[in-house]
This record gives sequence, C-alpha cells and structure tokens, in this order.
Amino acid sequence: MNLKGRSFLTLKDFTPEEIGGLLDLAAEYKEKKKKGIPVDTLRGKNVALIFEKNSTRTRCSFEVAAHDLGMGCTYLDPKSSQIGKKESIEDTAKVLGSMYEGIEYRGYGQEIVEELAAYAGVPVWNGLTNEYHPTQMLADMLTIRENFGRLAGIKLVYLGDARYNMGNSYMIACSKMGMDFVACAPAKYFPDERLVEQCRGYAEASGSTITLTEDVWEATKDADVICTDVWVSMGEPDEVWAERIHDLTPYKVTSDVMKNAGEQAIFLHCLPSFHDLKTEIGKEMGERFQLTDMEVTDEVFRSPQSKVFQEAENRMHTIKAVMAATLGA
Ligand code: CP
Ligand code: NVA
Repeated sequence: MNLKGRSFLTLKDFTPEEIGGLLDLAAEYKEKKKKGIPVDTLRGKNVALIFEKNSTRTRCSFEVAAHDLGMGCTYLDPKSSQIGKKESIEDTAKVLGSMYEGIEYRGYGQEIVEELAAYAGVPVWNGLTNEYHPTQMLADMLTIRENFGRLAGIKLVYLGDARYNMGNSYMIACSKMGMDFVACAPAKYFPDERLVEQCRGYAEASGSTITLTEDVWEATKDADVICTDVWVSMGEPDEVWAERIHDLTPYKVTSDVMKNAGEQAIFLHCLPSFHDLKTEIGKEMGERFQLTDMEVTDEVFRSPQSKVFQEAENRMHTIKAVMAATLGA
C-alpha cells in the first residue's frame, strides 16, 4: 500500500485493499502505543487542524496522533481564523499548504474540503463534513474487526437519519468491505439515490448487500452491529428537533432491538450521544418533549454489548494511520 501524497476525503476514493491496509497499520500503531514503543517517524513535520464545527474526539485524536508521530500541530477553531469570512478556501489552502505538511478540515459541505485539497498541494484529511465522516469509519471498522475477527459477511444496521454523514459513510464502508448494510428509517431519511446506486456497485464487487427498510424488527434481526447517531447534526437548525423526535423515536436503539439482533450483536455510536439528560441539549429536549433519552437508551449505551468507548479510542489509532500513510512515515 502506497498512499503517500494522497488526501483522505471520502472512502469512495479508496480500494478495499487500501482501507484494509490502513486498518492493519492502525492495529500496529495501537499495539505499539500499548507497549510504549515510540513511532515518532515524522519528526520535524507540522499539520494544521481546521475546525469550523466543534469536536472532542476528532480534534484530540489528530493532536495526540500528531504528537506521537513527532509532529507539531496548530488548531484553528471555529471562530478565530480568517477562513470563509475574510479569506477564500483557495487562498487558505495555498497559505497553509506552504507551511504545513498536511491539513485536517472539519466543516460543512464536502465541496469545501475538496477545494482545499485541490489547492493545498499537501494531503488534506476530512475530519467530518455534512456528507461524510471517513476517519470515523476506519475507527468503526477496526472496532468491528477487533470484536468479530473479520469484516466480510458482517451485517451492520444503521438506525436514524441515514441521509447524513454517518449513514452515507456506513453505506460506503460496508459495501466496499463486503459487509451487508441496512439503513433503517422512515423512507424520507434514506440516503441519496445516486449514492445508493454507486454503493450497490461496490457491494456487487465485494459480494455484499444494501437494504433500505422502514421495518425495525426485520432490519435488526440477526444483525452483528447496531449503529445509530444523533437525530440532529451539527449545523442543522433548532427547528428540526420536533420533527426528528417524532419521526425517529420508533427507530431508537432499545434493549428489545438488541435482543432482536441477538447476543452476538455489538452497539456502536460515533458519539456524542443523547443517552441521558446529563447534557445541556439533552436536558432541554428532555423537558420540552418529555424524554429521558433519544437515539439510544441509557441501558443499551451502558451494556456490555456497547463498544462505544473502544470505538472512540480507535479514532486516535486510525487517524494516526491515515496521517502516517499519506505523509509517508
Ligand atoms: N465522533 C466524532 O467525530 O466526535 P467529535 O465530534 O467529538 O469529534
Ligand atoms: N452526524 C453527527 C456526527 C457527529 C460526530 C454530526 O454531524 O453532528
């Protein structure tokens, strides 16, 4: 696998072999980290981290991974840079590309990260756009591989808003890696038809299937992996909460859903999650709509079947692999 110089914008751009190679590299870095073996082979290099939306996991993963690899990094927060307000993406890309060996971008439309990559002259990594969250997929795939020893033949079900970054990205990752993907939601939350068609092509090549269904019990029967995400994503207006809660409550991950899947099933969530009322928004929505949780019950979230914190840790190891492979560590 030689990914030196490549950007990492969506998994659509990578072959199953390249994705598998990144997972192998992440597993190697994880083992080395646990054993305290240094991997600072990118000493003297620097990366810029642009966040136009908030983050805990992605930012910390890039910062820790950069540090472990021996690199310096600069964090540009959602408010304090000139990006977009006084300076175009093209100009920003040229400036940062002249100072840094790689650039991470989290923000809105996929076209922004594509434009950044077109002008930067150095690898650009997508830390989440409205459409895709590819580094999250590597963490999820590594977690699934650690739990089941394989990816091919695994049945993964995503419940919730399947039109957004997480639903889209699971469909791409699963269809590339030979995993059966099920999007389970009201039909208006199904992924874009053109993306479904593209992924059906990947699924045909990898020998897997894509199913879109509104039926929770049919969808989750004998599933290996049950996934969900927040019902309202960053950047969406507050007005959509009432409709989302109404539409997606039947698609909440409950212990009955996990039982329907079976004892072997694991639960994944990219986090952050509204599984209780211990957050500002969770509390506000809880009071407004008489809820104690949203996309997943606290019981499932805290159960032994839930691997969400293993998944969160794997963000760092997989992001390290992406930076190392594309910068030629
Ligand atoms: N899963 C994820 O991307 O988390 P952050 O928003 O905290 O980075
Ligand atoms: N769909 C969520 C994912 C957060 C990691 C969002 O875009 O806010």
